[in-house]
Order: sequence, then structure tokens, then C-alpha cells
Amino acid sequence: MSNRLNSTPNDLRAFWMPFTANRQFKKAPRLFVGAKDMYYTTHDGRQVLDGTAGLWCVNAGHCRPQITEAIREQAGELDYAPAFQLGHPKAFELANRLVDIAPDGMSHVFYTNSGSESVDTALKIALAYQRVKGEGTRTRLIGRERGYHGINFGGMSVGGIVGNRKMFGTLLTGVDHIRHTHQPDKNAFTKGQPEYGADLADDLERLVNLHDASTIAAVIVEPVAGSTGVLIPPKGYLQRLREICDKYGILLIFDEVITGFGRLGTPFATQYFDVKPDIITTAKGLTNGVIPMGAVFVTSEIHDAFMTGPEHLIEFAHGYTYSGNPIASAAGIGTLNTYRDEGLLTRASELAPYWEEQLHSLRDCPNVIDIRNIGLIGAIELAPIAGEPTKRAFNAFLKAYEDGLLIRTTGDIIALSPPLIITKEQIDELFGKLRKVLLNNI
Ligand SMILES: Cc1ncc(COP(=O)(O)O)c(C=O)c1O
Repeated sequence: MSNRLNSTPNDLRAFWMPFTANRQFKKAPRLFVGAKDMYYTTHDGRQVLDGTAGLWCVNAGHCRPQITEAIREQAGELDYAPAFQLGHPKAFELANRLVDIAPDGMSHVFYTNSGSESVDTALKIALAYQRVKGEGTRTRLIGRERGYHGINFGGMSVGGIVGNRKMFGTLLTGVDHIRHTHQPDKNAFTKGQPEYGADLADDLERLVNLHDASTIAAVIVEPVAGSTGVLIPPKGYLQRLREICDKYGILLIFDEVITGFGRLGTPFATQYFDVKPDIITTAKGLTNGVIPMGAVFVTSEIHDAFMTGPEHLIEFAHGYTYSGNPIASAAGIGTLNTYRDEGLLTRASELAPYWEEQLHSLRDCPNVIDIRNIGLIGAIELAPIAGEPTKRAFNAFLKAYEDGLLIRTTGDIIALSPPLIITKEQIDELFGKLRKVLLNNI
């Protein structure tokens, strides 16, 4: 056994693990000690096919040389530079590279360290923008039921997953929600975008009638909702939201933390759906998950609105110690180089038909009540075990892990989002393993 495999810690008590069933985990730990391309290595020396790109972030696959090298070099050259009133070249270089691949009109980038911070930054930009424009009464933020926008107070407030909200008091005030778009009675087993549900965007107009447009700053949605269990926008839905926002002067924020960087076969979902938001939040795939980093994209109209007043004054009182950190910036550049050299930002569009066919072939497995897909995203919704919601999917997760496949579950839904380097043979391996799991009386 190599040293690496011997490095298993023998006391797991001190680490309170995030979004984890801690007691269950610590009784039967699942530890990764290595990773390369599409596979993890476990502490007991097994290979596990990564069906989820880590947590929707390792889009270029694991331990990619250009990223590793960029980090190594940067760490030896300039480790940290203060983020406020000072800079370093790579943060600017990365911002320009990001704007180059961003949807038309997105001209400026504000750095954060995570998806949650990108969301809270976007909400603050929206509120401050309305104010600098002279529309300071627009303080209300609108989210969507079942939305996931991270776990900070802003994102939690506009988010719509009850389990993530109910423990934390009153959250932000002045927030409302439109309904989610999940309609399995009408859309179950749809391949790609569902036919039914564009009219659910009209909920925004209902909220305008309730609160008045003059009180609403912005609406935030995930173009494809991921963490709630993969909800694909019905045909015409996002277009309709854009129309209503335009009609009432409401900013549209797309949370692209999981759809950014090639997940749908275009650099951003915005380009896939051909709907232009005013602000885009990103993280995850920006650095291939390797170093924490997020970025919020805005239009020049929004950016320029802040660039007034005396030049020695800070225009926007917001930022993080690690905004645009040198090593994160280097990782971002290494990641974009990898995406460019390997065509990864569009690769999902080539694989999507095969992915869709193989995913939907699981329709005949026991307890499968819906299958959904778009780009290189898939979801399999299972009938809950009576009286024990979430357990069937969790059982599937445990069994898959044992059988050498990493899947992700939320509620009784299995979500799949492999690295964009996956081959057709690995897609076969993934669904072959998953079929065995689903047939295993979970
Ligand atoms: C759409 C969306 N927004 C925000 C986040 C939060 O990102 P982070 O966990 O990096 O804070 C996530 C994480 O999954 C996400 O899917």
C-alpha cells in the first residue's frame, strides 16, 4: 500500500461536516485520497467513476495538468496581494478572459469565493444599482420556490428549499417567491425542456400587482434548477420572465453557479436559452472546483451607473479579502486554458443526445417515477419509501459508491452531472452501474 493510501485519519470526531449525515458518515466513512480525470480513488484503494463532477464543479475532470501547474507556479511567485486599493496582473487577465466567453453585453466581473457569495454580491449590486439610478424604493427581492442560491442569508432568503430555511429565523425581509416549475403530472419523462409551464412565469406579474413594480429590485432564478433535483425550465418560461422584467424595470439575475462553464454545451445557460439576464452569478467550474472562487458578471449599464462622483471615493462598498486572490486567478486562467484547448465549453452539446438516450433507458427500472435531462445533466426521481422520504435515494447513493460510482441525491432524486470530459464508454459504465443499483431492491 502506498503512503497516500495509508493517510486515512483515524479520528473523525473534530470535523463537523457540511450538509452531511455526520453520525452515519463517521460509522462508515467514505474518503477519497486521490483523483485523476474521471475517477476518484478511495481510501480502501477502489476506483469510483465521478458521475457528479465533484459537486457540479470539476468540469474539466480531476488533477488536470494546466491547472495544477498554474497553481504551483503562482504559489511560488506571488502568494497574496491585498484585494482593496491594490491589484495584481492575473486578476485582470482572468476578468478579460471571462468577459470574452461571457454572453454579449456582460462586460465586467466582480470576484467572490463561492456561489453563495456570488449570489449575495449579485443581490447587493441589484439593490445598490436601483439606488444609484434614483430608484431607491426598489428594495424587494424575488426568488422562486425550490430555488437554491447557496446558504448565506441573502441566498437563503431568495432560495426556496424549506429544509435550508426553516431553522434560521426570519431571514431577509421584503422577499417574495414565484412558484417552481415542477409539474410531473404533465411533464414526466420529458426529454429536454418540458412543454408545459411557461405560464408559471406570469407569477412575477402577480407579485408586481401585489407589491407594485416600484418596490421590486430584482428577480433571481437558476436557469436550470440543480440542487433541488434538476428542474428544467419549460419552453418559453425564461423568455417570459425576461419580458415581464423589461416591462416593469426589474433586474433579472441568472444564478449560473452550476450551469456556467459548459454544462449545457454552451459557455453559459444564458447562451443556450438565448435569454439575456442583467447579472450572472458563477463559481464552481470557474476554477474547476480546485480553488474557491466565484465571479459575478454585470452589464456595462450596471457597472457604469456606479462610476460617478469624486474619483478618490470607493464606488461600491463591497468585497472580500480573497476577491481575485492570485492563486485562485491563476487556477481560473489554467482552467479556461484547459476548456479552450479541449473544446470543453461546447463538448456537452455533442454528448447530450447519447447521454439523453442512455439516461432515459433507465425508465423501466423499479421505483423510477420521472427522468429529466438537459445538456450533460440528468435526474432520476424515485418513488419515496412509504414513511421514509429521502431514504431510497440515499440507499442508492450508498450502493452506487460501493459499486464504484459517485452520484448525488437530493430528496428522492438522483442528480447526475459528470465532468465534461466523459467518454461514451464511461457514459455506458455510469448507466450500467446505476441500472444495477436501481435493480437492487434499494
Ligand atoms: C445555483 C447555485 N447557487 C449557489 C450555490 C452555492 O454555491 P457554494 O456552495 O459555492 O456557496 C450553488 C451550489 O450548489 C448552486 O447550485
